[in-house]
Amino acid sequence: MRNNGRILIIEDEQAGLKNLEHVMKKEGYEVTGMLSSVEALRLLEQKEFDVVLTDLRMEEADGVEVLEKCRGLYPDTEVIMITAYASVPSAVETMKKGAYDYIAKPFKLDDVRRVVKSAVERVGLRKEVAQLRKQLERYEGKVKIITQNESMRRLLETANQIAPTDCNVLITGESGTGKELLARYIHFMSRRAEGPFLAVNCGALTEELLANELFGHEKGAFTGASSSKKGLIEAASGGTLFLDEITEMSPGMQVKLLRVIQERELLRLGSTTPVKVDVRILAASNRDLHEFTAEGSSFRKDLYYRLNVISLNIPPLAERRDDIPLLCQYFLTKHSALMKKDVREIAPEAVGLLVNYDFPGNVRELENVIERGVALASGEAIEMAHLPDDLRDLDIRTFRKKGSRYPSLEEQEIAYIRWVLQATGGNKSMAANILGIDRVSLWRKLKRYGMGENQAGT
Ligand SMILES: Nc1ncnc2c1ncn2[C@@H]1O[C@H](COP(=O)(O)OP(=O)(O)OP(=O)(O)O)[C@@H](O)[C@H]1O
Ligand SMILES: [Mg+2]
Repeated sequence: MRNNGRILIIEDEQAGLKNLEHVMKKEGYEVTGMLSSVEALRLLEQKEFDVVLTDLRMEEADGVEVLEKCRGLYPDTEVIMITAYASVPSAVETMKKGAYDYIAKPFKLDDVRRVVKSAVERVGLRKEVAQLRKQLERYEGKVKIITQNESMRRLLETANQIAPTDCNVLITGESGTGKELLARYIHFMSRRAEGPFLAVNCGALTEELLANELFGHEKGAFTGASSSKKGLIEAASGGTLFLDEITEMSPGMQVKLLRVIQERELLRLGSTTPVKVDVRILAASNRDLHEFTAEGSSFRKDLYYRLNVISLNIPPLAERRDDIPLLCQYFLTKHSALMKKDVREIAPEAVGLLVNYDFPGNVRELENVIERGVALASGEAIEMAHLPDDLRDLDIRTFRKKGSRYPSLEEQEIAYIRWVLQATGGNKSMAANILGIDRVSLWRKLKRYGMGENQAGT
């Protein structure tokens, strides 16, 4: 069916409702009419509309309640109030709460057509923009997994195979190895790519907050729940939900999540009416797989088997050192461009150090090291002096063996002064201030190191 916009009309007066339904259908919209506002609220629980046209004053629930329901459940839906001429001020009030517009009775049908049309167009436009943005992200390669390593290549092959299926995946790997990146990759390679990708860190919230975040709530479910709110599981419907640090989930939450996976429906907090959900779950953990099933583990086996239909383990960077130079180059280009600098290479001894370093923080740490290097570099290359101290210290023995040289304190000082001068655009007072010395001392240092006026770049 051609979808020109799904419209819900709520009007507790029979003749008025029939009339509006007829006119809107003629405009080519998919129209649902409701005489009872309470029933309409119930319907809204199940179905999303592009535009809701509602009477403001009704016997049962009024237009404001309809508006609040829509705001809580469907941020994209536009609500239009129909109101008797006498209550126009209240209708204007509802616009402050997010209503799109109001129509005063008695109305001209042309006015109704015009307002509804513009609301439908706005919803359509917003959806289009969201979709375009998603496509852009996809094609601009935000999800670029850089690797030349054999075991990573096999891992990606598996990821490509399982991406189009709907099966749940458990991604394991040390911190910073790229678990979330891989999850995004799978999402964008799947048939859910146009749908949402939502990520939750299960370790970052208390049990109550996580439950509220994941399952949402009904109005009045707890003090402060002034309107109903969709949880992330529902919001991710049609897309992918990424559950990070899944082992941190409490036993109670595990049971609830298991139910969602098995029944494909959930209960919002404070509700007894199940809501259907269609979501693919990708879970991640930096624990070893066997820790999930180990004796005494608090992780439910049944949930584990549900999540772990496929498991993908990303090896630590230290186990795929052949990726280090490639990643260095990638991040160098990236951060050079971001900082609008022209740093093109990494000095060979610096590369030597990086390739031998163990990177406990994996790819994230490598990226930080390169980003910092680009910031500090004054010429076209990242030199030894631009690498963090702890990296150099930790690797001191490996490095000595290779017979390379460390930068002297003086070289470090020169590099730092250069960087500060560059960062301040050559403003010596500001630079001296940052360096914690007075202008005369800075001037002396510049002279001693042969960093004349030209160096300051004023
Ligand atoms: N192969 C790769 N190519 C390009 N970028 C990568 C690669 N692996 C990781 N990254 C980048 O490294 C950073 C860390 O990756 P990500 O957040 O996916 O790791 P993680 O395993 O989820 O970490 P944590 O366990 O700490 O949550 C991100 O900025 C990501 O884009
Ligand atoms: Mg992560």
